[in-house]
Amino acid sequence: MRYFIGNWKMFGVPKSIGILSKINSYYEKDKNRNKYRVIITPPYTLIESYSKYFNKKKILIGSQNCYQKEQFSSNTAAISPYMLKSVGAKYTLIGHSDNRKEGDSDMMLKDKVRYAIKKNLKVVFCIGENKTEKKNKKTLSVLKRQLTKVLEKKFNKNNIIVAYEPIWSIGTGKIPTAIELKKTTIYIKTVLKRIFKKNSPAVLYGGSVDGSNVEMFKDIREIDGFLIGGASKSSKKFIDIIKNYYR
Ligand code: PGA
Repeated sequence: MRYFIGNWKMFGVPKSIGILSKINSYYEKDKNRNKYRVIITPPYTLIESYSKYFNKKKILIGSQNCYQKEQFSSNTAAISPYMLKSVGAKYTLIGHSDNRKEGDSDMMLKDKVRYAIKKNLKVVFCIGENKTEKKNKKTLSVLKRQLTKVLEKKFNKNNIIVAYEPIWSIGTGKIPTAIELKKTTIYIKTVLKRIFKKNSPAVLYGGSVDGSNVEMFKDIREIDGFLIGGASKSSKKFIDIIKNYYR
């Protein structure tokens, strides 16, 4: 199974659902549709209405983050896994670099993963090195730390998808070379196999993925799909990624 996950970030109002309807129409007619899953993570404000709309359809709705407590608490503006589940979210991103930058520590991330899974959300756990770490050849050790500090066997690999997103690649148009990416993805899967005792969760790539570069990624069989930011805000760009991947 491959995954095409669209991360809308701070984008979208109720009428933006038109973008998803177009993606859904494509998906429903696509002869390759059994090979992949489409998940969109709109902002919190749209999760309930979009989940209802896509309830019987193919697109699954997720959130971009969740708070590190299970149900209710006195944390102003916080949204828990229980609250997300109750409005129809099926997935949640956790550990996106935007949120790590704002202070999400490994300990907080572990709680987020734990409570999300407890409330039956599937977790898309994001990892990635920054530019300096890459320059100093620290990529693999950074990724290993990010994975081993947070993930545990008891979370069950079926509840987790890992998204490798080099921070220097997000929104910049820069992507790793195919050789680099293959090597890094294999390494991530090796670490994950150690954590989950033999079986690795799916590993996605994210960072400036679009219809023109996705063909390079399809030769890297170890990559199980994509986390797509900018290009997920346009139905045409998002569909182009899927089309060109299966061409
Ligand atoms: P991008 O974002 O595709 O715009 O680089 C990816 C992400 O931040 O998830």
